[in-house]
Amino acid sequence: MKGIFYVFSGTGNTDKVCRALADEWQKRGVETTYVRLRRGEPSPDPRGFDRVAVGYPVHAFNAPEPVLDLLKRWERADGTLLYFVKTSGEPVRLNDCSCARPAALAQKRGFTVAGEFHYVMPYNIIFRHSDGMAARMWQAALRRIPGDAAAMAEGKKTPWPHGPFKRAFSFALRIEQAAMPHIGRHFRATERCVGCGKCAKVCPQGNIRMEDGRPVFGRSCVGCMACAFYCPADAVKTGLLNGWRVNGAYSFEGAPAADGEICRYCNKAYRRYFAAAEALPPPAAEPQTAPQAAEAAPGADPAGRPQS
Ligand SMILES: Cc1cc2nc3c(=O)[nH]c(=O)nc-3n(C[C@H](O)[C@H](O)[C@H](O)COP(=O)(O)O)c2cc1C
Ligand code: SF4
Ligand code: SF4
Repeated sequence: MKGIFYVFSGTGNTDKVCRALADEWQKRGVETTYVRLRRGEPSPDPRGFDRVAVGYPVHAFNAPEPVLDLLKRWERADGTLLYFVKTSGEPVRLNDCSCARPAALAQKRGFTVAGEFHYVMPYNIIFRHSDGMAARMWQAALRRIPGDAAAMAEGKKTPWPHGPFKRAFSFALRIEQAAMPHIGRHFRATERCVGCGKCAKVCPQGNIRMEDGRPVFGRSCVGCMACAFYCPADAVKTGLLNGWRVNGAYSFEGAPAADGEICRYCNKAYRRYFAAAEALPPPAAEPQTAPQAAEAAPGADPAGRPQS
């Protein structure tokens, strides 16, 4: 059986989860191709694969523009099973309907949308989770990944709730996609910039060019926050979003947050999410090997990798 992951990821959370899922597919004998989406880089045709997984971070209760663009480019692939894998900073149910629009696009192209898997990973915008929260989220993901990968490989159908209220809310917030290119044009590097070029290297949109040792931001920003997150000097000012800027990779490897250390914001929802994952058996060991990668984003850091 052949499977493919198409993954858009700004700051590496979705990439981290999807690589571990893809690794599980490989272990289960699924010949797996892994594609990290970058603007302007070709990606393989999904026809000819038995399983298709599309990974993305939730952006304003929606899927980011590059994911919608990918689905719009596809030809018909009648009956091919497709799953969505999404990550988001909080476990609120409003995030569920972020795949309503991509699911409609996939169904229009004949795919059978068989389900979605939602992982909570640390915020890359709004506020910084503690490293303990990041570690607990990752431990929860590791418990879920073998079962979720198996469900996808076996073609299980996992319907998800898409009530009309949630759909309407998600629809209203699509405004973020229209606004981001304009907001992104006001991104700037401050005098703290050391001219290392890392922001340009990690931008999945190729939206940053270096001029005279300083980054210049273009019109293709999708608000993934990779430039601000990975800047070693915390020099990227993100215009209207600057107050929500998060800088610096999380450590996922330390001690997970204890119950009393779970952040107060959305506390009940995090507790519910952790309790469900932690009822599953612990993972044998964290997968280390990357799956057979058809394409990986050059220069994009998987989350948690120390900054050079
Ligand atoms: C522009 C933007 C909007 C976001 N909107 C949401 C949201 O609506 N709900 C949520 O729970 N998290 C939201 N997040 C947080 C991300 O979904 C979360 O941190 C995700 O794991 C990042 O994945 P990545 O590292 O693969 O880019 C948002 C992040 C960004 C940058
Ligand atoms: S990553 Fe930061 S320090 Fe490096 S070029 Fe970009 S703004 Fe300047
Ligand atoms: S400019 Fe920054 S926020 Fe915008 S797409 Fe590039 S890396 Fe993401």
